[in-house]
Amino acid sequence: MKILEGKTAIITGATRGIGKGIALLFAQHGANVAFTYSSSVEAATQLENDLQQLGVKAKGYQSDAADFEQAQKFVDDVLEYFGNIDVLINNAGITKDNLLMRMGEEDFDKVIEVNLKSVFNMTKAVQRTMLKNRKGSIINMSSVVGVKGNAGQANYAASKAGVIGFSKSVALELGSRNIRCNVIAPGFIETEMTAKLGEEVIKGWTDAIPLKRGGTPEDVANACVFLASDMSAYITGQVINVDGGMLT
Ligand SMILES: NC(=O)c1ccc[n+]([C@@H]2O[C@H](COP(=O)([O-])OP(=O)(O)OC[C@H]3O[C@@H](n4cnc5c(N)ncnc54)[C@H](OP(=O)(O)O)[C@@H]3O)[C@@H](O)[C@H]2O)c1
Repeated sequence: MKILEGKTAIITGATRGIGKGIALLFAQHGANVAFTYSSSVEAATQLENDLQQLGVKAKGYQSDAADFEQAQKFVDDVLEYFGNIDVLINNAGITKDNLLMRMGEEDFDKVIEVNLKSVFNMTKAVQRTMLKNRKGSIINMSSVVGVKGNAGQANYAASKAGVIGFSKSVALELGSRNIRCNVIAPGFIETEMTAKLGEEVIKGWTDAIPLKRGGTPEDVANACVFLASDMSAYITGQVINVDGGMLT
């Protein structure tokens, strides 16, 4: 039997990068996958097909995780189509980097809304189902930047540190109902988000990583499979760095 067989997982922001890696690995391990995206309709259709080819139920939804009403409607639609929700992975995220001196209010608010408020929206939306089931695993994507801070990313670091505080609180509130909530803090993972950085910056990051390479979406996805599965049944409220030792 596959490790996630019979489980239905929601993954936000799965049309590329880490989210896509998680969706594909979850399907390989037998999970049914409901995923969201913001605008990439073609990539979503392709992913839906790729996941179904792996023999699981899969569907993509265009839904803005930052919008409270849309998150609720998305979860209602998932329940109607899939019948249940066992795992929530809040992965959708954006960057709008700038030095504080040049960072506008809009760029601060937008990053907080997409990276942090989305986690509140989605957790609220699945809470009732998980409480009824008396089980559930919520996995929130933070970043090493949320643990350590980073010059030029005050908005992003604030949102990702917020995700950690939120997740620990949820773990404390919902632990008695067997609902677990953990955080993954990826380091430097090679995706479109990091491709925006110049070659020099990328070399600087990788030189400082003990394992001497950037991570892959699969590196992060493997940690998600563990946290979603019953193998991590006694783990909650934790932050797992998937960073090649960067913060060590
Ligand atoms: N890459 C890294 O090195 C790294 C390191 C630490 C943490 N992280 C975190 O890991 C997560 C994934 O990063 P990534 O590098 O894979 O990002 P990415 O390649 O930029 O992909 C972001 C995904 O999120 C979706 N998305 C964006 N805004 C959304 C919204 N409002 N509602 C729903 N979906 C939305 C995008 O959909 P569309 O395609 O439709 O735009 C896309 O599928 C993020 O939370 C990021 O902060 C990444």
